Amino acid sequence: MITCSAPGKVYLFGEHAVVYGENAICCAVELRTKVSVEKSDEIIIESVLGSTGLDHDTHPYVSYVIEKMRQFADIQGVRISIESELPVGSGLGSSAAVTVASIQALNHLYECGLSLEDIAKTGHEIEKMVQGNASPTDTYVSTMGGVVMIPQRKKLNLINCPIVVGNTHKFSSTKELVGNVAKLRNDFPSVVEPILSNIGQMSILAERLVAEGDYETIGKLMNINQGLLDAIGVGSAELSALVYAARSSGAISAKITGAGGGGCMVALAKENNSEDIAKAIENAGGEAIITQNTAEGVRLE
Ligand code: MEV
Repeated sequence: MITCSAPGKVYLFGEHAVVYGENAICCAVELRTKVSVEKSDEIIIESVLGSTGLDHDTHPYVSYVIEKMRQFADIQGVRISIESELPVGSGLGSSAAVTVASIQALNHLYECGLSLEDIAKTGHEIEKMVQGNASPTDTYVSTMGGVVMIPQRKKLNLINCPIVVGNTHKFSSTKELVGNVAKLRNDFPSVVEPILSNIGQMSILAERLVAEGDYETIGKLMNINQGLLDAIGVGSAELSALVYAARSSGAISAKITGAGGGGCMVALAKENNSEDIAKAIENAGGEAIITQNTAEGVRLE
């Protein structure tokens, strides 16, 4: 049996703006999806969602992975088991992580010889099949790990402070939210385009700050980014409650991560206050996860 795992991610800056070619800084986090594969008589996909064969409703990402990987190997029967620390549909890149880990696990099992670049590219093609207009960011960062400036794909220094994620447990559809922003941009181009471009500028300013480890200033910019995400309509009462709870309990910064609407927010913490922030998020009705960024992308376990 082969087991591979791939990390989820948070956006320090730039979700939604990145869809329009603006800069973003995205960072892999040490919350992983593990995929185990072994040859079998038939196709079986097992996860908390149930046990199925090829099934584009229950297991769309893994079903498309199997079909796509048939370009590189004669895949007849295979058992694929998925375990994840990443909540589904929450903005932490769970779909990219399961896609990338599945591709790499099959790549090893069938000795297809795919490089990491091939895996990121194939993963993006699969996300587009399922989601429509997906940027390559999630699959790239899950494959390569680290803190990455998009679209240049430049690796920046790791962020040396605890990261606290707050999950609203409200499901959000990336496809729908990306569509809502597209409509707003179409209806009010002169208003919305500058907002997206200002979001992009924050990543450009932050590159030097990440290199210097100036988290206080990064945090000020992340809080401005949060205001602009609210302005383009991807906030929600639940997300705001967690963002303000985190800030009031001493977070350096707090903002939505991912598509918004529901899903997760992310806070940067100081060395000594991640537990306080986590408690405040839980008291405000969210589920808190304390984590850190990781240099490691997809890996063989
Ligand atoms: C979703 O994690 C991030 C978005 O920018 C969409 C994308 O980049 O595909 C909202």
